[in-house]
Amino acid sequence: MQDFPRFRYMGSKFKLLPWIHDTLSELPFETSVDAFSGSGVVSYLLKAMGKQVHSNDTLAFPCVLTSATIANNATHLTASDLEQLLAARATKSGERFIRKTFEGIFYTPKELSFLDDLWVGIRDLNSPLKRAVALAALLRSAIKRQPRGLFTVSDPTRYQDGRRDLQLTLREHFIEQVACYNAAVFSNGLRNSVTCGDVFETPQGADLVYMDPPYVPLSDDNCYIKRYHFLEGLACYWEGKELMMNTKVRKITKPFTPFAYRQTAEDAFDRLFRQYADSIQVLSYSSNAFPDLKRLKTIMGRYKNSVEVVEKEHRYHFGTHSAAKRNVVQEYLIIGA
Ligand SMILES: C[S@@+](CC[C@H](N)C(=O)[O-])C[C@H]1O[C@@H](n2cnc3c(N)ncnc32)[C@H](O)[C@@H]1O
Repeated sequence: MQDFPRFRYMGSKFKLLPWIHDTLSELPFETSVDAFSGSGVVSYLLKAMGKQVHSNDTLAFPCVLTSATIANNATHLTASDLEQLLAARATKSGERFIRKTFEGIFYTPKELSFLDDLWVGIRDLNSPLKRAVALAALLRSAIKRQPRGLFTVSDPTRYQDGRRDLQLTLREHFIEQVACYNAAVFSNGLRNSVTCGDVFETPQGADLVYMDPPYVPLSDDNCYIKRYHFLEGLACYWEGKELMMNTKVRKITKPFTPFAYRQTAEDAFDRLFRQYADSIQVLSYSSNAFPDLKRLKTIMGRYKNSVEVVEKEHRYHFGTHSAAKRNVVQEYLIIGA
């Protein structure tokens, strides 16, 4: 697991992986679905455990990360691919969208031009998996180079504390990240796959489904698009995305998910557990979420004969204020068999 390029993603289970691994190791399964893959770290764990994995997320950029690391068993970017990528230049006006749209908002003008140029090179790569590796490297470069890893309004002078990630240019990051993603590619001898879509359209029939949906937010701060809209656009050069030009940071519209609202969350869990009634179900959950543990056990119990809970205390360091909020919560794995 040390090869996984850790991605700063809200709700990432990176730190809980040893515990998730120990729990999954006890369960009898060969094929699996990671239905809300996010950073892709749990998919990577499943792949490393020798399981067949299908990863899904509704957002495009998490699917780029899993295309590069889960569906990809053997494709690397060569030195000549990298040279070609770095030599590409945007020449047409439609190829300078990033600089035109984000100048004065994120990064330096030169770096924005680098992103436009690189996208020209990515389009020219002849293999979808090579494109995924290049894009994953670009996404991780973009988040590392951004103070706090967020794409909200911030005062850049507040974060000039000499951190290496903020000193390297996007180009320098990209060269490093290509090496990181190349090193992360491995084969577990199985055909693993990725879809980008709503969980309710995800393929069924796997022995086990791991579910880590978003929680009903306590405030708007929990919104994935608010934090990562730039990455979501960058993953597809904003093609088909609706830009909100009246917002300071040029956000894109937020996709609806029933898991994020009090009125729709319970019904969404019911539909989710019904959809995967024939699979072993493993749900990541936490004590600060709605509906509460007791209610969720009852809902899962409608479809599974046995519902068990393993728990662990966990401290999240994810906040939007300068002093990150440190929340101690009970983390649960709710297992339906
Ligand atoms: C808590 S995160 C998953 C984190 C992941 N397990 C990790 O360790 O990085 C929840 C994910 O669910 C995705 N999501 C939200 N609604 C969805 C839906 N209806 N269908 C599929 N994915 C959805 C979000 O885009 C987000 O990436």
